[in-house]
Amino acid sequence: MNSDTVVVQQSSISSPSSFSAFDPKSFDAYVMSTYARFPLSLERGAGCRLWDTEGREYLDFVAGIATCTLGHAHPAIVEAVKRQIQKLHHVSNLYYIPEQGELAKWIVEHSCAERVFFCNSGAEANEAAIKLARKYAHSVLEIEQPIILTCHSSFHGRTLATITATGQPKYQKNFEPLVPGFHYVPYNDIAAVEAAISELDEGDYRVAAILIEPLQGEGGVRPGDIAYFQKLRQICDETGVLLIFDEVQVGVGRSGKLWGYEYLGVEPDIFTSAKGLGGGIPIGAMMAKKFCDVFQPGEHASTFGGNPFACAVAFAVCQTLEKENILQNVQQRGEQLRAGLRAIAAKYPGYISDVRGWGLINGLELDPQVELTAADVVKAAIDQGLLLVPAGPKVVRFVPPLIVTPKEVDTALQLVDKAMTTLTA
Ligand SMILES: Cc1ncc(COP(=O)(O)O)c(C=O)c1O
Repeated sequence: MNSDTVVVQQSSISSPSSFSAFDPKSFDAYVMSTYARFPLSLERGAGCRLWDTEGREYLDFVAGIATCTLGHAHPAIVEAVKRQIQKLHHVSNLYYIPEQGELAKWIVEHSCAERVFFCNSGAEANEAAIKLARKYAHSVLEIEQPIILTCHSSFHGRTLATITATGQPKYQKNFEPLVPGFHYVPYNDIAAVEAAISELDEGDYRVAAILIEPLQGEGGVRPGDIAYFQKLRQICDETGVLLIFDEVQVGVGRSGKLWGYEYLGVEPDIFTSAKGLGGGIPIGAMMAKKFCDVFQPGEHASTFGGNPFACAVAFAVCQTLEKENILQNVQQRGEQLRAGLRAIAAKYPGYISDVRGWGLINGLELDPQVELTAADVVKAAIDQGLLLVPAGPKVVRFVPPLIVTPKEVDTALQLVDKAMTTLTA
């Protein structure tokens, strides 16, 4: 053996079982309390199933919050991870990265985009879009003080610019001063957009872009209105205002189409993706049409963005979506789920005011007149062995892996029914 060879001592690698020692109490002693966590430590997954450190099994209708596209431990992901980690996992973007090029080509060939910028998360992808829009506004539209319109109840991330873009004061409170250059309008309200564009056109100020979710996820699973979005596209074409879609939650197949904008029959100028793109491996992306390709070398960057590892795994996710015809499953399982949730709503009159969504992003809204909260339903569902996630105080969100089977949807519906029985008893 060459004297330079590094030998990894097997005994120095901790056995995975040592992680179970991290019960919630000792966890909280070391990790910052930025999350209101449910008392559950998850350690293993397969498909749409998860197991906690006590060995209890759960049906996962959260998927890491609309992220684990192919569920847990999918062979395509396992294989891509193994293959790429043994070959090359990270190099700088100062060099060409073939896996990044391959993934960008796939995205361009499967969307209206002409160029892709890679980063690591949804917030970063939106930051990139905001920067691109501002540069475009300065250099092409010649606006000194560009304004970006965003919507009430939106969610765009947790960085300073993206909490400012997020039209929900609860995410901004205590973090002022916010980033200037944003203005909020009600969602699905075209008159408000027209009024803002004309009222904000003053001196150096002008609306340069609209950043909007095709379906508001965190804001309560609120689908965009087709007529509204088509009119929005028309206004942007007439005024030169950029149309930016935040597809972080709804994109990459979750809506039943590859991109949420396909539901609306409208193409954005720029759109962002993260969550489902890597199937659980951190990756973010900002896509733009060629005329928006205004960044010059050095104007935007990310150390990890688009590294060989993340791109190889995301590419495997995208290829699997296509090869296994998963979008058809998303449409069919979505219909099955909504029909079942509507039957549950009918069984508990007065408790559930709406069931809505696209594909496998669905919300069950609790009647404002009842005291029951989304967190109450989520807790009762956990007791039944089903993981769900709130989207605001009154909406329970269903975002399972896109590979969920008819039987798993039926089981989830039975567990929701049982949870509602306990809550309404
Ligand atoms: C629509 C939307 N945009 C942006 C984000 C932020 O993504 P990330 O948490 O990856 O920064 C989220 C996260 O929930 C989201 O739903």
